[in-house]
Amino acid sequence: MLKVGVIGIGMMGSTHLDAYAKLKGVKVVAVADIIEERREGRTVAAGNVKGQSQGGVDFSRFRKYGEGLRLIADPDLDVVDVCLPTPLHARYAIAALKAGKHVLTEKPFARNSREAARLVAAARRAKPMLMCAMCMRFWPAWAWLQETVAARTHGRVLAAQFRRVASHPGGSFYSDGDACGGAILDLHIHDTDFVQHCFGKPDAVFTRGYARDTNHLDHVVTQYQYKNIPLVVAEGGWAMAPGFGFQMQYTVNFERATVVFDLAAKDQLTLVIGGKQTPVKVKAGMGYEHEIAYFMDCIRKGVRPRAVEPASAALSVKIVEAEIRSARTGKPVRV
Ligand SMILES: NC(=O)c1ccc[n+]([C@@H]2O[C@H](COP(=O)([O-])OP(=O)(O)OC[C@H]3O[C@@H](n4cnc5c(N)ncnc54)[C@H](O)[C@@H]3O)[C@@H](O)[C@H]2O)c1
Repeated sequence: MLKVGVIGIGMMGSTHLDAYAKLKGVKVVAVADIIEERREGRTVAAGNVKGQSQGGVDFSRFRKYGEGLRLIADPDLDVVDVCLPTPLHARYAIAALKAGKHVLTEKPFARNSREAARLVAAARRAKPMLMCAMCMRFWPAWAWLQETVAARTHGRVLAAQFRRVASHPGGSFYSDGDACGGAILDLHIHDTDFVQHCFGKPDAVFTRGYARDTNHLDHVVTQYQYKNIPLVVAEGGWAMAPGFGFQMQYTVNFERATVVFDLAAKDQLTLVIGGKQTPVKVKAGMGYEHEIAYFMDCIRKGVRPRAVEPASAALSVKIVEAEIRSARTGKPVRV
């Protein structure tokens, strides 16, 4: 039985608790949050995607800590799951690795590429394993897309367009641009990461955007430039009017087919080929539960989590920083 401690019982901590509750051979035994209501399970932070942070987990058997570093010192834990605000990811993940625990840490990997590089170095030195929770790599319709691109099932990719737009989620962390990094680092990084997961490191990025809800970029469009793919674009932001909700979509045009994903559609994934639109069945569930199940499996088998290498999670932070420089200068920036 793998024993897990979760630090930060906000929106993501609560979402991870839901996911652990569905797994066999894994047990959350400790939680930490500086807010007593949260570590006692008396309040559940609201999610911004349907299905996140459901609550209903029984907190009565958990050991409870306030400060996260106290949970890390708990000797009876195999895994520490860091669901803290972004500026704390590197410090707490490194402390947990040093304490001999396997570590799952939320995205973005770190607040900046300097901290991400420290995480990469710490993971290289450590015996326990570190994985960043880049959940889109595990989202069934997105994992299907990555496999379809890699297998060239429908030929080469001619164009790929990703879209992730929302109303601002509110709350102190997401309103503090210096803490969350604006939507470009907090939200849009999902697509930046998926683009490099699918297509490799872009040669350059060209970004336009604006700040509205924080003092950082809250809505951007980036063109990822590749020699062998004519068009790769992602739009991301949380600057939509209150009440807009959350939209997550992609359209990918291959030589012989077009695929469309829309989180809000009845048939979320559609293959358009030879004049016919066919719904594609993929496995059920959200990326969070699949990523957690995958990492637990890696730990059990003693194999490195190749699906999200620390260096790859760090590269996504680096690409986002290039996007920020591009938006500032108005010019494409080499990655
Ligand atoms: N994978 C995804 O799709 C996804 C979605 C949302 C957020 N996130 C990421 O998850 C992280 C957390 O976001 P959130 O929305 O859950 O934030 P949140 O503010 O809802 O939760 C963070 C929690 O950490 C607690 N905390 C802060 N410092 C602490 C400390 N030193 N010790 C113990 N507890 C402490 C806070 O009290 C709070 O309850 C962020 O990095 C965010 O970018 C990922």
